[in-house]
Amino acid sequence: MANQKGGVGKTTSTINLGAALAEYGRRVLIVDFDPQGAASAGLGINGHELDETIYTMLMTPRSDVREIIEHTDVEGLDVVPANIDLSAAEVQLVNEVAREQALARVLRPVQDDYDVVLIDCQPSLGLLTVNALAAAHGVIVPLEAEFFALRGVALLVETIEKVQDRINPRLRIDGILATMIDLRTLHSREVIERVRDAFGDKVYTTMIARTVKFPDASVATEPITTFAPTHPGAEAYRRLARELIFRGDAA
Ligand SMILES: Nc1ncnc2c1ncn2[C@@H]1O[C@H](COP(=O)(O)OP(=O)(O)O)[C@@H](O)[C@H]1O
Ligand SMILES: [Mg+2]
Repeated sequence: MANQKGGVGKTTSTINLGAALAEYGRRVLIVDFDPQGAASAGLGINGHELDETIYTMLMTPRSDVREIIEHTDVEGLDVVPANIDLSAAEVQLVNEVAREQALARVLRPVQDDYDVVLIDCQPSLGLLTVNALAAAHGVIVPLEAEFFALRGVALLVETIEKVQDRINPRLRIDGILATMIDLRTLHSREVIERVRDAFGDKVYTTMIARTVKFPDASVATEPITTFAPTHPGAEAYRRLARELIFRGDAA
């Protein structure tokens, strides 16, 4: 889940898509890859109380990520927690051997334990995000439905293409997810149209409407699928999960 712009719904989409895929019986691992630790917190895990996080795994050779994986209250949904320590990794990794492949190395031992691994990136295109792109099969780009949203995407696409060319040939854009939509406004509809012009069928049919239930659910440290199971916001992420399954991206 990547977009170098903050506040576009990366963490919300990681948590709720993950929870919806788990409801459909998929074994899902969420990797919190943002020093803010919002994905951990949103699933009831306070990364800031932990000594061992994704950071220690990245920095310690032969470490075992299984030792830090936490189960969540959602059956089938696990998380690799992060905290503010991760902010040091960006600088410290620069001098490491295979600095772009540190996350891929950490995740390799659990690859077969999960059907889907969702990496919640921080809002930057720095070395941590490059590590996530190097480890991934695909990128989901949450895009806020506002006029300047497309501006940053060209740079993201460029980064994805570089990683594809130099490190991870299998990498591709899985889909563009329109978030914070208000279809009653002409503005939202026009933005969607422009996004479709730019990305065609890469744009998920499912769109995520703007609703206060999402911040409410994160305050309650739950996915919306358990916090408000029948809310349209929960249904939207289930529909997105089905779309991924149908496309073969979460088979
Ligand atoms: N569809 C939505 N409608 C309303 N608020 C949302 C929606 N999606 C996310 N939010 C809220 O917007 C803020 C930013 O979302 P977040 O998922 O943390 O973005 P990012 O991870 O890209 O920075 C959070 O407070 C979150 O609860
Ligand atoms: Mg986030």
